[in-house]
Order: sequence, then structure tokens, then C-alpha cells
Amino acid sequence: MTKGTLLLKATDIKKSYRITKENTLRVLKGIELEIYKGEIVAIIGKSGAGKSTLLHIMGALDKPDSGEIEFEGRNIFAYNNKQLAEFRNKEIGFIFQFHHLLPEFTILENVLIPNYIKGVDEKNRAEQLLKIVGIEDRKNHKPSEISGGEAQRAAIARALINSPGIILADEPTGNLDTENADSVINLIFDLRKKFNQTFVIVTHNEEFANKCDRIIKITDGII
Ligand SMILES: Nc1ncnc2c1ncn2[C@@H]1O[C@H](COP(=O)(O)OP(=O)(O)OP(=O)(O)O)[C@@H](O)[C@H]1O
Ligand SMILES: [Mg+2]
Repeated sequence: MTKGTLLLKATDIKKSYRITKENTLRVLKGIELEIYKGEIVAIIGKSGAGKSTLLHIMGALDKPDSGEIEFEGRNIFAYNNKQLAEFRNKEIGFIFQFHHLLPEFTILENVLIPNYIKGVDEKNRAEQLLKIVGIEDRKNHKPSEISGGEAQRAAIARALINSPGIILADEPTGNLDTENADSVINLIFDLRKKFNQTFVIVTHNEEFANKCDRIIKITDGII
């Protein structure tokens, strides 16, 4: 496969956490990576390796101590807070291990929330996405009334609503049984086929990682 268009580039990303007065935990020690448009990339590494930390930094949910994330050639950490919030809303879709749907809202409303933040209301698109992820018939239900697998599909539709440049998923199948995990994995590959959607996926699922275009492994704070 040719590499195509460079979408996201991480340069020398470092991140430490102060644990006690004397102790800092150096988690990321100079991460370098490039993500190309339309790729599905797996990030692996043992528990505590810094996978979630890196994903959060790539999606501007967290800042590194040093280093740069360039998205379409622009250094996102040069943005002010308002620009950063706009960037997250427009270009990043997040999928977490737990769906994080808001319990008071219906599935359809949950999918539309990133839309509302952006100041638009694409109800037809939301319904279309719910159809694609296979839960259109549950759109008026609350999150508590649907299964874990269905909730994760709703979270995927929510991540897609604003047509983000990249979807970052942190163990999206970590909370699902094999059958639901497989259907979420198939869905992710379908979405790439349909929309040329780019995904970066943290996973402990070896079979899933092996299906991806590339595997990036974090060991001792580097790749
Ligand atoms: N806010 C924080 N303050 C202090 N330490 C933190 C903080 N967030 C993460 N850490 C530590 O940083 C290290 C990396 O955490 P991270 O969550 O990125 O790991 P991970 O690779 O995602 O692990 P897992 O596979 O268990 O999810 C861990 O040792 C964690 O305890
Ligand atoms: Mg993690």
C-alpha cells in the first residue's frame, strides 16, 4: 500500500507525571509517529506503557511536556484554548472502552451532541449513521435500555457525526464479548471502506491488531 497523504505527525513527544516530591514517572520519552489518511493503525504495549496517554495527546485532550503534534501540517499545541476545542470538535472523534453516552439523552441525541457543540444539527446524517452501525431502530431509547455492544455502536456513530479527520479509539472492544467485539472490528473496517475514515486504535486484542494496516508498539516510552 502506498503511504498517501500525511494526516498526523508526532515529533519527540515527552510526558512525565510527578508521583511524589522526589519521583517523576517518565511515561513517553520521545514518541515519533506518522499517521496517513485512510489508515487503520493499532497501538499496542503492556499496561502502563503510555498508550492512553499518547492517544489523549494525539487528540489534544492532554498536552505533552514537550514535542509537537502536527495535524495536516499545523502544530496543534500552538493553538489557543478556543482553537484547540474547535480542533477537537471538528477533527477528532473519540471512542473509549466504556461508551460514555449521556444517560439522560436518547441514542439519537447522544450521536448529535458533537453536532450541537459545533452549532449544527444534522439529524438526517445522525439517522444515516445509526443505520450504518446497525441500531437505527434503537434511536429513541436511552443508553440504559440498550446492550453494551449497541452502546459501543452508538459511540462510534457519535464519533463520526462531525466527519472527523481521525478517530482515536482506546480499547473499543475491551468491554465486549467476542461476538460484539468482532462486529465492532468489522464495522471499523467497513467505515474505512465507506468513508476512507482514518483510525488509531489502542487495543489488547491481538487478532484485531494483526488485522490493522500497521502495529505501533510502545516499549519503555518510545516506539
Ligand atoms: N494523571 C496521572 N497522574 C499520574 N500518573 C499517571 C496519570 N495518568 C497516567 N499515569 C501513569 O502513567 C502510566 C501510563 O498510563 P496510561 O494510562 O497511558 O497506560 P496504558 O498504556 O494506557 O495502560 P492500560 O493498557 O492499562 O490502559 C501509568 O503508569 C499510569 O499509572
Ligand atoms: Mg489505557
